[in-house]
Amino acid sequence: MERLQKVIARAGIASRRKAEQLILQGKVKVNGKIVTELGVKVGPRDKVEVDGIPVEKEEPVYYLFYKPRGVISSVKDDKGRKVVTDFFKDIDKRIYPVGRLDYDTSGILLLTNDGDFANLLMHPRYEIEKVYIAKVKKIPTREQLKQLEKGIMLEDGMTAPAKVKLLSHDKQKQTAIIEIRIHEGRNRQVRRMFEAIGCNVMKLKRERYAFLDLKGLNPGEYRELTPHEVKQLRALALSGGGK
Ligand code: URA
Repeated sequence: MERLQKVIARAGIASRRKAEQLILQGKVKVNGKIVTELGVKVGPRDKVEVDGIPVEKEEPVYYLFYKPRGVISSVKDDKGRKVVTDFFKDIDKRIYPVGRLDYDTSGILLLTNDGDFANLLMHPRYEIEKVYIAKVKKIPTREQLKQLEKGIMLEDGMTAPAKVKLLSHDKQKQTAIIEIRIHEGRNRQVRRMFEAIGCNVMKLKRERYAFLDLKGLNPGEYRELTPHEVKQLRALALSGGGK
């Protein structure tokens, strides 16, 4: 369900602010009835009209993108830095990222114009499993890795249990490559978890998102999700994020 003014704006009829004015002026109908309140939410089956003309919904699209490092997970940036939608210039739909990866993090990012789908996947209750590969400075001890697994105290509270695997280490350079699987999606969570055990993250990549990986894609490339993958993601989220 989405706010009426957002649906009107998304269809390209007016800006969100202008859409609010149209609603207040009594020019918008939902299922044949004039609506003049701004809080009303509509779903995919509701019929919305502006000035008697039906609002055509954009056909939903779903993409799996290999985000390179040095790109913002946003649709625009005030400072003119590269954003993820710059890689989708030939797509004429209003897509946006499902959640975010840090500027310096690479890896899987989903983009869609389907708000319900995005909200479902991002909802903390339904958080999907994500697998990250981190290169860190300093080789963590077994106890420290256990701590990450059990949960560690961050500024915004304890982290939920995680799965952690030391993949390799370089004694001379004092670096380690670690796989970490988490279900949460707090801001800079993986970096903060490693900082909490005294290991700075030098490089971070999201390798998997639920059952999806980056096979066949180079950084900056994307592919459409298949209808089956979309269905599976919805089902997975609703069943508890694959925990
Ligand atoms: N955790 C982080 O620290 N950064 C990301 O981009 C994703 C997860």
